[in-house]
Amino acid sequence: MISTRHLEFKYRGAPRPAVHDINIDIEDGSIVAVLGANGSGKSTLARLFGGMLRPSAGTVVVDGVDTTARPAGWAMHQHVGMVFQNPQNQIVSTVVENEVAFGLENLMMDSATMQQRVTECLELVGMLHLRLANPHELSAGEQQRLGIASALAANPRHLILDEATALLDDQTRLELMSRVQALARRLSLNVIVITHRMDEVNIADRVIVLSQGEVVFDDTPTALFTQAEQLPHWNLTLPPLQELTAALRSGGLQVPPSALTPEEVARALWP
Ligand SMILES: Nc1ncnc2c1ncn2[C@@H]1O[C@H](COP(=O)(O)OP(=O)(O)OP(=O)(O)O)[C@@H](O)[C@H]1O
Ligand SMILES: [Mg+2]
Repeated sequence: MISTRHLEFKYRGAPRPAVHDINIDIEDGSIVAVLGANGSGKSTLARLFGGMLRPSAGTVVVDGVDTTARPAGWAMHQHVGMVFQNPQNQIVSTVVENEVAFGLENLMMDSATMQQRVTECLELVGMLHLRLANPHELSAGEQQRLGIASALAANPRHLILDEATALLDDQTRLELMSRVQALARRLSLNVIVITHRMDEVNIADRVIVLSQGEVVFDDTPTALFTQAEQLPHWNLTLPPLQELTAALRSGGLQVPPSALTPEEVARALWP
């Protein structure tokens, strides 16, 4: 579980904190989307969760460990796996399997166990057939999946994807998100999806919206879509499908906000 209390972080020289008075508990086995416009504090929050930044005030407790009591960057990857926007920046090896094994090297694991873990993680992201490929030559989508496999290798309880699908085309992006959703369910992994794309919140159980460093919304995706009029205040816009269903509703048609896919909308209109 990840818990924050009165969490605040201010970058040196910045006029105001990037995140301010964040109080959230993220329970194990949940998929949480953190949504917010550019500069709203999402990546700062991710780095605080992952122990890469230390709070200016308040606390972050991950699986019972208070990150404020640790030096920045301690071996948090055993608890929190992080994948960032640009997978190229995270690649350190020239062979896929070495890349996945990289994070395992200081975990005192024998080589047979390590091999097995690498195989499992590549299998999980559907990339076992690319085990001997050069990571630099993979497609962006494959590199992104490799990033997830590498983060999963240390067997973290939490996986944070910080705009980790930003480079992908829509089909690959949504495919990867549903793969992550399946993984989360299978491994009862806690997944935090950081995004500014409203369509990625559909896989989440819970959505937290950040605006100017503060939590302004914390509820289900359905609840978010029923508060569509609030979104512009947070510099967010509805995905096209929800924009359409809002228009249909204001035109008098019965489409529940819980209809999040085209199929669900079609069924609501023609049961
Ligand atoms: N190193 C830094 N020094 C000063 N200010 C910073 C630094 N890094 C981030 N900030 C500021 O902190 C605020 C939050 O930034 P953050 O990167 O957390 O936002 P974000 O929600 O991830 O944005 P994006 O969607 O663009 O990735 C922004 O106002 C940003 O300018
Ligand atoms: Mg960011």
